[in-house]
Amino acid sequence: MQLIIEVIRQEFQKALGTAFGEEYTQVDPLVVVASNPKFGDYQSNIPLTLAKKLGENSRVIAQKIINHLDLNNICKTPEIAGPGFINLSLKPSYLESLLSEINADSRLGVEQAAHPQKIIVDFSSPNIAKEMHVGHLRSTIIGDCIASVLEFRDHEVLRLNHVGDWGTQFGMLIAYLKEVYPEVLTTADVIDLGDLVTLYKQAKIRFDEDEEFKETARQEVVKLQAGEPESIHAWQLLCEQSRREFQKIYDLLNIKITERGESFYNSYLAKVVTELEQQGLLEENDGAQCVFLDGFTNKDGQPLPLIVQKSDGGYNYATTDLAAICYRVKEDKAQRIIYVTDAGQANHFAQFFQVAKKAGFLPDTVEVVHVPFGLVLGEDGKKLKTRSGETVKLKELLDEAVKEARQDLENRLAEESRTETEDFINQVSKIVGLSSVKYADLSQNRISNYIFSYKKMLNLQGNTAPYMLYAYARVQSISREGGIDFTALGEAKIVLTEETEINLAKHLIQLSDIILDVEKNLYPNRLCEYLFELSKKFNQFYEKCPVLKSEEPTKTSRLVLCDLTARILKLGLSLLGISTLERM
Ligand code: ARG
Repeated sequence: MQLIIEVIRQEFQKALGTAFGEEYTQVDPLVVVASNPKFGDYQSNIPLTLAKKLGENSRVIAQKIINHLDLNNICKTPEIAGPGFINLSLKPSYLESLLSEINADSRLGVEQAAHPQKIIVDFSSPNIAKEMHVGHLRSTIIGDCIASVLEFRDHEVLRLNHVGDWGTQFGMLIAYLKEVYPEVLTTADVIDLGDLVTLYKQAKIRFDEDEEFKETARQEVVKLQAGEPESIHAWQLLCEQSRREFQKIYDLLNIKITERGESFYNSYLAKVVTELEQQGLLEENDGAQCVFLDGFTNKDGQPLPLIVQKSDGGYNYATTDLAAICYRVKEDKAQRIIYVTDAGQANHFAQFFQVAKKAGFLPDTVEVVHVPFGLVLGEDGKKLKTRSGETVKLKELLDEAVKEARQDLENRLAEESRTETEDFINQVSKIVGLSSVKYADLSQNRISNYIFSYKKMLNLQGNTAPYMLYAYARVQSISREGGIDFTALGEAKIVLTEETEINLAKHLIQLSDIILDVEKNLYPNRLCEYLFELSKKFNQFYEKCPVLKSEEPTKTSRLVLCDLTARILKLGLSLLGISTLERM
């Protein structure tokens, strides 16, 4: 289905050409979605911008354009407003035919990409022997949603977990564990991640204080990098330990991702530095090998270097990302690479992108995008912490969401004197709890910080997961109540008469625009807003327009509107990583 706004744009260009000459077919007709429904559905202010050039009054220009506009099938008669805006309103008959088309389409009017790309989404990416924190949770939820939208558009998506599983810190950790807890390095499953994190912190203190220990740690790194079996085995056990914990979170959230950690690029790091050297980009600075950057300066206004090899010969986060970008371009043949991390890493990405471009690792045909996001704050407006001031464990945070959802559900059941099975209660609380966490995150403009509040995210009213799930369940209850099988409605004729019906229809047909917008701009909150509006418009329609009690053909037509709403909600929510409930 072609986007309506595109059809309108093309018609405008034709009309401009006929009215003012061939060259005007190239002018952008400035068609936008109307800012306010009282101006109709679409608007163009091109007459105003042409007035000077054509030396004519803009209302006169508007009339000339309208005289040549061939939008009779789509729009009511265009109106000229104010100084010469052209306002367009879609015709109900056009909406009816579009809705029939969408209804008959299993993809609900969203076409597959004409040129599917190979896209990498690098997300989640926690660090071994460290706790997965709320920042990683955001990356996981946002990255998963972006990957799903791209997959739905038929791109070939590689979901990569760039786990922090390599680096000098492992030498330090192994050296320390050899002293205090050697079993961890030889036997699987002896400690949990929490203890490992504590030991890691102790190791770090020791490392910073004790020169002799520092040297031992350094030797361990050398052994590990040389691939000594004993060291590799120890390192693998440590990774395994963390991986198991991470997997618990992925299972709970139903996240599919392929691990390709930093260690994967180990054997490519030296080559990155050699290539930078060959290109003449490498400079020594305080003993470290660096590439100086354009447009980045330090506090004193001096040019800033990106370090790619430390003075001790070790490589770092940036070197690994440079090696990874080469691999992703050359071996994975990625055409678009998307990195989802906290906004605090924006400079890191801008810097190594710049170096990768300069070094020719990144051809112009490959698009790289950093998708940054803000912080998760506690209700006190400060960085999210537990009551005792520690970092929040993700597993506990998610379990708590499910627990609170269960409490809400039990209260509601008691109020309504409903009894439900234990299975029902478990399933509903789990879906509502976890969806609420996901939705609360995705519905924010990702750049902003957001306040984590169970109470707010679980609210049945407002832009929340429960509100959306409820709208979906409401439609399903219509089918149960009326004994209607939505799938058997077939190609029913759609008739739109009531205002709320037309408003709902106008919203239903926008799904495709929204998905394309998210595909391009990577803001999941746009999809959330769309679904929230859809639920509201559906509720307004349902309050005003009887469905089961109306006469044919209105009844079937309205049932189709209900079903389409539910199918779009289900699809949209699934792209957000949220499953729907038939009853709740
Ligand atoms: N492990 C990093 C962190 O915890 C995130 C990695 C993001 N991906 C990348 N290619 N740099 O902050």
